[in-house]
Amino acid sequence: MEKVQGRGVLGLVFLVTLVLSVSSGEAQSKYFLVNCGANSSVNVDGRRWIGDMAPNDNFTVSSSGVAVTDSTANGDSLYKTARIFDNGLNYTFAGMQGSYFVRLHFCPFPFENYNVNVSSFSVEANGLKLVTDFNVPGEISVKNLHLQNSNSNSSSLSLVKEYILAINDVLLVEFIPSKGSFGFINAIEIVPVNGTLFADSVSKVGGSNANVSGWGIETMYRLNVGGQEIRSNGDSDLWRKWEVDSSYMITADAGAEIKNTSNVTYASNNDSWVAPLLVYETARIMSNAEVLEKKFNMSWKFEVDPDFDYLIRFHFCELEYDKANQRIFRVYINNKTAADSFDVYALAGGKNIAYHHDYFDAVSAKVNTLWIQLGPAATGSASGTDALLNGLEIFKLSRSGNLAYADRIGSTGKPASHSKSWILWVGSGAGAATVLIIAIACTCIFCFCKNRRNEMNDTKDNPPGWRPLFMHGAVVSSIVNAKGGDQTLNGSVAASTRVGRRFTLSEIRAATDNFDDSLVIGVGGFGKVYRGEIEDGTLAAIKRSNPQSEQGLAEFETEIEMLSKLRHRHLVSLIGFCDEQNEMILVYEYMANGTLRSHLFGSDFPPLTWKQRLEACIGAARGLHYLHTGADRGIIHRDVKTTNILLCENFVAKVADFGLSKDGPALDHTHVSTAVKGSFGYLDPEYFRRQHLTEKSDVYSFGVVLFEVICSRPVINPSLPKDQINLAEWAMKWQRQRSLETIIDPRLRGSACPESLKKFGDIAEKCLADEGKNRPTMGEVLWHLEYVLQFHEAWIRTQATETSITSSQALEDLELRVAEDAQQRPLSMDEETGRPQYEG
Ligand SMILES: *[C@@H]1O[C@H](CO)[C@@H](O)[C@H](O)[C@H]1NC(C)=O
Ligand SMILES: *[C@@H]1O[C@H](CO)[C@@H](O)[C@H](O)[C@H]1NC(C)=O
Ligand SMILES: *[C@@H]1O[C@H](CO)[C@@H](O)[C@H](O)[C@H]1NC(C)=O
Ligand SMILES: *[C@@H]1O[C@H](CO)[C@@H](O)[C@H](O)[C@H]1NC(C)=O
Ligand SMILES: *[C@@H]1O[C@H](CO)[C@@H](O)[C@H](O)[C@H]1NC(C)=O
Ligand SMILES: *[C@@H]1O[C@H](CO)[C@@H](O)[C@H](O)[C@H]1NC(C)=O
Ligand SMILES: *[C@@H]1O[C@H](CO)[C@@H](O)[C@H](O)[C@H]1NC(C)=O
Ligand SMILES: *[C@@H]1O[C@H](CO)[C@@H](O)[C@H](O)[C@H]1NC(C)=O
Ligand SMILES: *[C@@H]1O[C@H](CO)[C@@H](O)[C@H](O)[C@H]1NC(C)=O
Ligand SMILES: *[C@@H]1O[C@H](CO)[C@@H](O)[C@H](O)[C@H]1NC(C)=O
Ligand SMILES: *[C@@H]1O[C@H](CO)[C@@H](O)[C@H](O)[C@H]1NC(C)=O
Ligand SMILES: *[C@@H]1O[C@H](CO)[C@@H](O)[C@H](O)[C@H]1NC(C)=O
Repeated sequence: MEKVQGRGVLGLVFLVTLVLSVSSGEAQSKYFLVNCGANSSVNVDGRRWIGDMAPNDNFTVSSSGVAVTDSTANGDSLYKTARIFDNGLNYTFAGMQGSYFVRLHFCPFPFENYNVNVSSFSVEANGLKLVTDFNVPGEISVKNLHLQNSNSNSSSLSLVKEYILAINDVLLVEFIPSKGSFGFINAIEIVPVNGTLFADSVSKVGGSNANVSGWGIETMYRLNVGGQEIRSNGDSDLWRKWEVDSSYMITADAGAEIKNTSNVTYASNNDSWVAPLLVYETARIMSNAEVLEKKFNMSWKFEVDPDFDYLIRFHFCELEYDKANQRIFRVYINNKTAADSFDVYALAGGKNIAYHHDYFDAVSAKVNTLWIQLGPAATGSASGTDALLNGLEIFKLSRSGNLAYADRIGSTGKPASHSKSWILWVGSGAGAATVLIIAIACTCIFCFCKNRRNEMNDTKDNPPGWRPLFMHGAVVSSIVNAKGGDQTLNGSVAASTRVGRRFTLSEIRAATDNFDDSLVIGVGGFGKVYRGEIEDGTLAAIKRSNPQSEQGLAEFETEIEMLSKLRHRHLVSLIGFCDEQNEMILVYEYMANGTLRSHLFGSDFPPLTWKQRLEACIGAARGLHYLHTGADRGIIHRDVKTTNILLCENFVAKVADFGLSKDGPALDHTHVSTAVKGSFGYLDPEYFRRQHLTEKSDVYSFGVVLFEVICSRPVINPSLPKDQINLAEWAMKWQRQRSLETIIDPRLRGSACPESLKKFGDIAEKCLADEGKNRPTMGEVLWHLEYVLQFHEAWIRTQATETSITSSQALEDLELRVAEDAQQRPLSMDEETGRPQYEG
């Protein structure tokens, strides 16, 4: 037995071949737990991990590399030791037969003379490339806390890469450092899959089957939907870890959690390997949210590597209904319909029976997200709009012997993802970097064009089934065709557009008493808005644009185009339009209580209570959140202000006026470049400076709305002293000093929970962050506003029973509960990766 190399003499490779014993009878049950860089074994999770520095007869390791120990780690952590290599490092395991989980554990800690931040290496298993130019700290910073492993006792973050490989006797795991760099490994885990985990043949989204037999498989995500995290020691003999799903949901509170632990069973014993019963005992169903477009309700979004095939495994178990036909829903993968009418009860053959279903879908080279959505079936079921999911797994597949994403960047010139790009910067001069940027830009443009074409074909062959259709049905082509210019856009709009009814001019004249000025309820840049009664007696708001205005035509078309894509309880809906005799008239649902602004100041309306104000803000935030995330590319409103938030007779707030709205950035683009439009006082300074439009510009404007709601004053008031003219600046000045209460609407004092006012100010402040990327998303704003409302309501209850000890206890409880909840939620979203970030 050779002595282990001392530190600092990396580069010499001593190959030590140890005796190998294979007892073939045990092949099926053979497993390996290797504690890399350690002399001795440790017991972690009730399993014994063998130190690879001590002689042993279970596997061989090329004795290259040095062992390092994390002196700051306490206890017997598996991650306390690692093996570092700056030449190759091979582990050879033998005596296996069948499918195995191969897990590589990485936990970077300070390695004395090596800067782990610049480590970079590749790993191959029996020739299958697992990762290339892999940088663990970079990957961890992207994946964030999601992958924190339960084996780790130290405060440092760790990463586990899991693969499912078919092995015939020998497995050789080769670690190869990138040129001039080094790599490390903390532990290797090889666990047999006893039984068949995957069928050969998997149904593709959109028909036909894929034969995935013999493909390389990497686990990307594994979620226990609607339930708790399941740690690796809670999953039978496979030691899988099941994450909580809520942080991947677009709107976490869109789904309610249900549970029945009493009598859940597998359909057959063979299925017991597929997932532990714990996964099936909890589920998420649709909560009864106020969204008309239900599919928007349960959506999960995952970051994936572009240009790979994926296997998506859904775990289902009907926990509530005890007959078929009660809960029927559609399954969408990447906005395509994978299943039209999914009835878990019928497919599983009963209640409380575990069932899983796999789909295969390819992700194209320019897409790095995978969307899973569940929504109501086209044909109504008894319950109508409910869907159910118990667990979800996403596996990356490779037929070609390469599961490494970075490798493809090198070989095909495709742009690097965020996480990898900085590695490319290391060691490349500024000149080279510039060339690289240009090359990437060209590739982007090229791929973008290509994708647009694909999109066109997709729209035709496989219409994205979830585009909301409009009520009165008439298909408008004249307007759309009149639009000239961009033919392709018109084509796709025409194909998917159904807008409201077309009115004749005489019908409009009848409804508005021939445009009687006494019926004018609003005047805007676009023209006048009348209150009218259409012939069935329905009240409507009728917006007639100034016929001379060129601008008017563009906005008229934009508004029809936008509203044809959208339908939501918190967006004002379009009843119809009239384009006779060059008129540009839009007919909307009537909002009895007018603009939000008119209820804040400058009118005789009674002041809104704090609760009404919060509810109005929440309604508007819901509408905007839907705009940003509900449509396929997201839509940016561009003119968020209190006069564009309307209130119906019950004070439900709706967002109006989509004349300036724009489709959000396409695909990999981070922004839309466009001339600055919007309203003074609400304009995002970043958008103003750079003319780069993102959803975060709406978030900024919404922040100004929040200040307007709490201060009850115009956003621009030229009659005030200079420093007070602009509300955004004035309010931020006080908010930064944590004394916003000095300038809030005095009518709120005493009737609003002081703590809720404070939290509200904090939200508005976040929305006004200088840089868009530091602002929250509308979804996060929405969530925080709901929290503020809960808080205020709890306070109101304690006020009602002033001196009662129990209710102040209740408030404390609530505060605690809400605070705990808040800790578990992402506070902000990383702009580029779309991953949630956690504070602290
Ligand atoms: C593999 O599964 C079979 C039956 O499913 C069982 O009898 C056997 O004990 C299992 N082996 C291991 C190592 O779990
Ligand atoms: C391994 O054991 C030797 C003594 O047996 C000790 O000197 C060395 O530091 C140990 N190495 C590690 C990595 O624990
Ligand atoms: C080799 O593995 C077996 C279990 O597979 C274990 O009992 C034995 O202790 C291991 N050998 C060494 C030297 O650790
Ligand atoms: C974690 O550290 C504590 C001491 O801080 C120790 O008692 C415990 O055994 C450690 N657990 C693991 C899994 O290393
Ligand atoms: C690892 O194994 C491969 C294939 O057998 C071999 O080419 C390579 O030299 C080995 N590397 C080391 C460090 O032993
Ligand atoms: C590595 O990066 C992390 C986070 O960026 C930083 O905190 C740490 O100091 C860096 N370590 C070294 C050795 O540069
Ligand atoms: C899938 O392909 C493998 C060989 O790659 C073949 O043995 C198997 O029969 C195929 N399965 C199906 C269902 O076609
Ligand atoms: C769970 O399912 C069993 C079997 O159908 C049923 O008897 C029981 O009432 C259910 N429990 C709950 C809490 O729904
Ligand atoms: C539990 O499930 C078994 C098998 O599906 C069934 O026979 C039994 O009646 C169920 N018990 C209850 C309480 O539903
Ligand atoms: C689009 O579809 C047409 C025929 O339907 C086909 O010829 C063309 O290759 C497709 N284009 C792309 C980019 O898929
Ligand atoms: C699916 O739709 C969402 C939101 O509308 C969009 O962001 C995403 O890029 C779409 N995904 C694909 C693969 O088209
Ligand atoms: C809101 O609208 C309802 C219904 O039109 C009306 O009764 C009520 O007076 C309005 N409230 C205010 C403050 O205008």
